[in-house]
Amino acid sequence: MCGIVGYIGERDAVPVLIKGLEHLEYRGYDSAGVACLHRDSCDLTVVKEKGKLIKLRERLRGRILSSHIGIGHTRWATHGEPEKHNAHPHSDSANQIAIVHNGIIENYSQIKTELLNQGVPFRSQTDTEVAANLIGKYYQSGHLVEAFTKAVARLEGFFAFVVIAKDEPDKLLVFKRSNPLVIGLGKGENFVASDVSALLPYTRQAVFMEDDEYAIIRKDRVEIYSLKTRRPVKRRPITIEWDISQAAKSGYPHFMLKEIYEQPEVVRNILKSRIHRGKIVFDSLDKKVERRLKNIERVHFVSCGTAYHAGLVGNYMLEECVRLPVNAAVSSEFRYEDPIVDDKDLVILITQSGETADTLAALREAKKKKALTLAIVNVVGSTIAREADAVIYTHAGPEIGVASTKAYLAQLTVIALFSIYLRQIHRGRKGISAGKMKSLLSQLVRLPAQIERALKQEEIITNCAKHLFRKQTFLYLGRGYNFPNALEGALKLKEITYSHAHGYPAGEMKHGPIALIDKNQPVICICPKASATYDKMLSNIEEIRARKGILICIGTERDKHLTKLAKYIFLVPDTAAMLSPILTAIPLQMFAYKVAVLKKRDVDQPRNLAKSVTVE
Ligand code: F6R
Repeated sequence: MCGIVGYIGERDAVPVLIKGLEHLEYRGYDSAGVACLHRDSCDLTVVKEKGKLIKLRERLRGRILSSHIGIGHTRWATHGEPEKHNAHPHSDSANQIAIVHNGIIENYSQIKTELLNQGVPFRSQTDTEVAANLIGKYYQSGHLVEAFTKAVARLEGFFAFVVIAKDEPDKLLVFKRSNPLVIGLGKGENFVASDVSALLPYTRQAVFMEDDEYAIIRKDRVEIYSLKTRRPVKRRPITIEWDISQAAKSGYPHFMLKEIYEQPEVVRNILKSRIHRGKIVFDSLDKKVERRLKNIERVHFVSCGTAYHAGLVGNYMLEECVRLPVNAAVSSEFRYEDPIVDDKDLVILITQSGETADTLAALREAKKKKALTLAIVNVVGSTIAREADAVIYTHAGPEIGVASTKAYLAQLTVIALFSIYLRQIHRGRKGISAGKMKSLLSQLVRLPAQIERALKQEEIITNCAKHLFRKQTFLYLGRGYNFPNALEGALKLKEITYSHAHGYPAGEMKHGPIALIDKNQPVICICPKASATYDKMLSNIEEIRARKGILICIGTERDKHLTKLAKYIFLVPDTAAMLSPILTAIPLQMFAYKVAVLKKRDVDQPRNLAKSVTVE
């Protein structure tokens, strides 16, 4: 986790750094800091504060830090408590250099002991200060690159660094291993950041660094080198299509609400570019990949959190469409379980950020075992997108709210398309009929308008949330395609309201959770009419009613029977069972959002969480 930025050019560096950090705060927000070199004297100034970026901004108010070069950091603590002395940037004990870091230095304690034995003092408990002091130990004025590369070669773990030295005010030095780093190219100025959203106010031209590369960034040129060979690396810049307004709140009180409302557009864009003349096309899947896809015998979805729930839905979708055995796994389990995977397996990694450490490790494990790897990713150019054999981008635009919403819907839509696509190229095998494919395509096209309709329930959901927001525990039930949404609804509620919530397959209710149900227990039942298990859900609903549970149902428009049974009902338009989770997710997201607002929670930056989990 952690967000890092760097700037060199003619502007005042500090405001540029602060603006960059605003876009990266989703990566961590327990402390923040900046370091810069004075424009004339080149003195090194470090300012940092515990807490969110706003605290750092208050600290800087009224201070004039005239500088053309600087680095900044927003932290999610790993080594050392979230205190000011552990905040970044860190400098070496002689205050010659300053560094910001995202990642973990695994052998830091060994190097720290060595440095302590040599009399080097430490001011924090962080692994980052070890890197600062190691660089400081090797540093001789004018030779930052040598000191930096020598130090980095001794470090083990996963990290991205940006370093400045007071004797070398003409350069930023950056390094990447596993954790993301992207360089933004300007005119007479250059930038570096953990992700492109921090660059968008200034430039759309970006160069993504690869693992074990370092770069020397001057205001008028950027040189990238391989750490191993020390040879220069040539890399073409990419034009980032995201618009800066996509990364701002656009009048909504929270990013999460804005992102919920962006969902019709997100799904519309995905469908527009992938359906041509009644066929599904993925431009990014070339002939070679397609050939391998035709021969796969098993599929694994591997992902974390909300993306894992998308994988669970994918499990049902692919099995229905192509009748292949499918397994959905959590990345942190898959990577360590010595998975049974070979070259006949397709491993699909689902990830919004494309940087999640466990998913990245799972990808590498699958590649080692010769599986075909396909990444479904939102962030263009992210590590997982680059390392997988093939990638399908969800193109949902930047997701800033820590609780994933539009990325989830985008993942479900892409997986639905991919399932039908696989059936298209798997002719001759078992699977859904041509007629069923056609019907699914026409229902897919209707989804954006249907999502818009589902969003019109906001007021009804607000009313329900007003009655229930003080409840301590919530039970979510669903079956088949909507069982993963029961998990997702519960996860959304937990992460942004801090209320306990539990998702369960409704058929399992009798095997335990039914004991919870009494007149005080809210139970959210996801019960779309098209589901093959609709009647079974109705039986579960009757069982809840018999125990006087507070029944909140998510059902299909005009379902009069369900409307009569439920105390509160949120209705979504009718669609195929396979596509129904794309619609039933909307009221679940909105309900969690409304409860969080009523409980006055920090919706976009809930406690203890970070948007991109780049540590294990
Ligand atoms: C929940 C949420 C997380 C992420 C998970 C995976 O709202 O956002 O559970 O889904 O951390 O992140 P990505 O998709 O970036 O791999």
